[in-house]
Amino acid sequence: MPTEILPKLEIGQLKLPNPLLLAPMAGISNLPFRLLAREQGCALAFSEMVSAEGLIREPQKAERFLQTCPEEKPWGVQIFGARPEAMAYAAKLIAERGVDVLNINMGCPVRKVVQGGAGAALLKNISLAKQILRVVRRAISIPLTVKIRLGWDEKNKNYLQMAKMIEEEGGDGLIIHGRTRAQGYNVHADWATIGEAQTRVKIPVIGNGDLMTPQEVINIFRKIDCAGVMIARGALGNPWIFKRTLALGKGEDIPGPSLEERENIIKRHLQMLINFLGEIQGVKEFRKHLIWYTKGLPENNSFRAELGKWRTKSEVLWGVQAYFQKIKSLKDPFLPFAREVGHNKKIAHTT
Ligand SMILES: Cc1cc2nc3c(=O)[nH]c(=O)nc-3n(C[C@H](O)[C@H](O)[C@H](O)COP(=O)(O)O)c2cc1C
Repeated sequence: MPTEILPKLEIGQLKLPNPLLLAPMAGISNLPFRLLAREQGCALAFSEMVSAEGLIREPQKAERFLQTCPEEKPWGVQIFGARPEAMAYAAKLIAERGVDVLNINMGCPVRKVVQGGAGAALLKNISLAKQILRVVRRAISIPLTVKIRLGWDEKNKNYLQMAKMIEEEGGDGLIIHGRTRAQGYNVHADWATIGEAQTRVKIPVIGNGDLMTPQEVINIFRKIDCAGVMIARGALGNPWIFKRTLALGKGEDIPGPSLEERENIIKRHLQMLINFLGEIQGVKEFRKHLIWYTKGLPENNSFRAELGKWRTKSEVLWGVQAYFQKIKSLKDPFLPFAREVGHNKKIAHTT
């Protein structure tokens, strides 16, 4: 009988059945995408980052980020900002909405965010990071986590100092993306360092960076001492990564989705996004997902060249159907593990 490799995960009072989390991703981790990941076994998915200032100034605009439904429970929201009072106020508003875990972004490298003193800029300003954490902790009683990078740059890798500070200030969990701000996405995530952080604090450390395949996730749990992992790019066009990783954790190597399954999820995801954003915006947003869903599939060039022209749900459905019909009729149509060559690593979140 193979042993279960994946541990359960506890973040404060929140008990999760497995340690696989979906990362916050701006423009991606909305309710439809989070639900798809959850259906595939992901234990907890975070919203994309929500500006604390935006939430206070224009709450109706932030409403879309805070939408959930009973099937999603438990769910997480990430906020960013640099003013302690604004962060505490936003945290309280969010906790009142029934969010199960709050995450503070202290790792975002995007220029606009950093210039405002938020995101990764807080790695350079630990005293402000500490103030923020202290007031947010006082404002809410739900589990509180922080997402950081290893530091600002190679010379200022202060993840251990940050980890200890976060634990001392009452953080219930720490998510570490294993690169510095300066490294962007240009080097491999440093998982040994993430493991080191877990040995220095008692709160759960959730590692993040470059997990693109079930095998890579399992290998992490074999080698590294961390409480959980967070997957971002590896889930794009590939929500199945969660189900397959859970199976592999039990010793069962299940194949990637069949073409039928892929086509069905594409159609469902499109409908969910349209319900969420309306047809015009939903179709527009869905184009990038179509690129990801068809990565590694045969004859995808002409399909991809066409999809920029589609404006309506029926145009997308027609195009998807025609493409899948064509490739299903090919002699050897499918590379079921095409996802696992790691092409999503080219996607970055830095501008
Ligand atoms: C398109 C995109 C948007 C992102 N948006 C956020 C965000 O809103 N908040 C955040 O903390 N990280 C964000 N990230 C970073 C991811 O959460 C994650 O830390 C990073 O991609 C490394 O994980 P991966 O190698 O599994 O992709 C984003 C990444 C991408 C690719």
